[in-house]
Amino acid sequence: MVNKKTLLITGGLGYIGSHAVVAFEQAWYQTVIIDNLANSSKDMLSGIEKILGYCPDFYECDIRDKKWLEAVFGKYEFNGVIHFAGLKAVGESCDKPFLYYGNNIIGSIQLFEVMEQYTIRNIVFSSSATVYDSSNAPVYREWMTLGSINPYGTTKLCIEQILHDLANIKQWSVFCLRYFNPIWAHPTGYIGESSRWVPNNLLPYILDVATGKREFVRVFGDDYSTPDGTGIRDYIDISDLIDAHILAYQKIEQENIGWEAVNIGTWRGTSVLEMIHIVEKISGKKIPYHIFPRRDGDIAQFWCDPQRAIDFLNWYPKNNIRQTVLYAYEYVLKNRF
Ligand code: NAD
Ligand code: WQD
Repeated sequence: MVNKKTLLITGGLGYIGSHAVVAFEQAWYQTVIIDNLANSSKDMLSGIEKILGYCPDFYECDIRDKKWLEAVFGKYEFNGVIHFAGLKAVGESCDKPFLYYGNNIIGSIQLFEVMEQYTIRNIVFSSSATVYDSSNAPVYREWMTLGSINPYGTTKLCIEQILHDLANIKQWSVFCLRYFNPIWAHPTGYIGESSRWVPNNLLPYILDVATGKREFVRVFGDDYSTPDGTGIRDYIDISDLIDAHILAYQKIEQENIGWEAVNIGTWRGTSVLEMIHIVEKISGKKIPYHIFPRRDGDIAQFWCDPQRAIDFLNWYPKNNIRQTVLYAYEYVLKNRF
């Protein structure tokens, strides 16, 4: 019997975390999930169970609660941590900066302190393209200047820096994955991005319109310096994104890499109107939209150069955006609220 390595997946009932739980279990790891259900529900756990045929251990636990963390760490011999837990809405972070600093930064510090207490020093961290100074746009590369323009991005930047210190002074082995714009849902339709509230992100919103849940898409600005005037982003298929997590974890468990950060994206940009047209083609429906003023904090366009992830992890984005959007559409059809 293969002696499975045990990983703690924080935020493991979230959109990306739940996909990671499935993929790591299928890659012969034992996963333990902690999540405070701030932006998820136990339905995601039953979705995971439907896919795996069993339910990984789950604890409704807040990463800010050190006592709870110590209780969980005391029960397992963790080999490492995949750290997804965090609040992620840029707009909300501008309205509630202290909630984001407390939840994401203080919560991560609590987690790291308990990890160090138990000498668990392997970690893959969910970072974001928002750590880049937007003056580098449109193509972001890892060596470029960092600098966030919103509290959410500041939390990611701060956590990356804390992990950099821990790698230097405590010999942690750290991989920061800077995601661009994840999209998609699991092909079974059992797990995906459950927009329990009004979705912040573009694709879930368009899909809500395609499935009759919302009337029209609000296009935030059509006067950007882009070919069709609307915002361009680098949409990464979540299965490619999760593959990068597995490769990153396997890298840090084999050797102490110190601290690394790589972009996870596709090198390609897609505009808002292009995304609307892709969903129209896939759904066979006309997607009504209205032009709204630009959204605060948005920039015209950015996408990533993933060459470092390709070189360092031998990782490649394999999926094309049409296939990705098709799965996401099928997920929403299957899970209409
Ligand atoms: P999500 O909100 O679906 O998942 C985050 C999970 O963490 C949720 O289940 C939430 O309940 C949980 N959580 C939040 N605060 C917690 C706390 N204090 N204690 C325990 N659990 C807590 O978001 P997601 O899209 O799956 O993102 C996962 C990670 O990836 C986040 O750190 C996010 O910042 C990062 N990220 C996401 C995107 C994106 O576009 N989705 C892009 C870049 C980076
Ligand atoms: C994409 C494009 C909008 C919604 C966000 C976070 C980022 C990361 C990924 C966490 C933009 C336009 C959107 C809508 C629209 N999350 N849009 N109408 O803002 O690139 O990135 O998610 O790390 O930190 O900022 O993604 O999907 O919100 O917007 O026109 O209803 O679609 O202006 O050009 P964004 P998004």
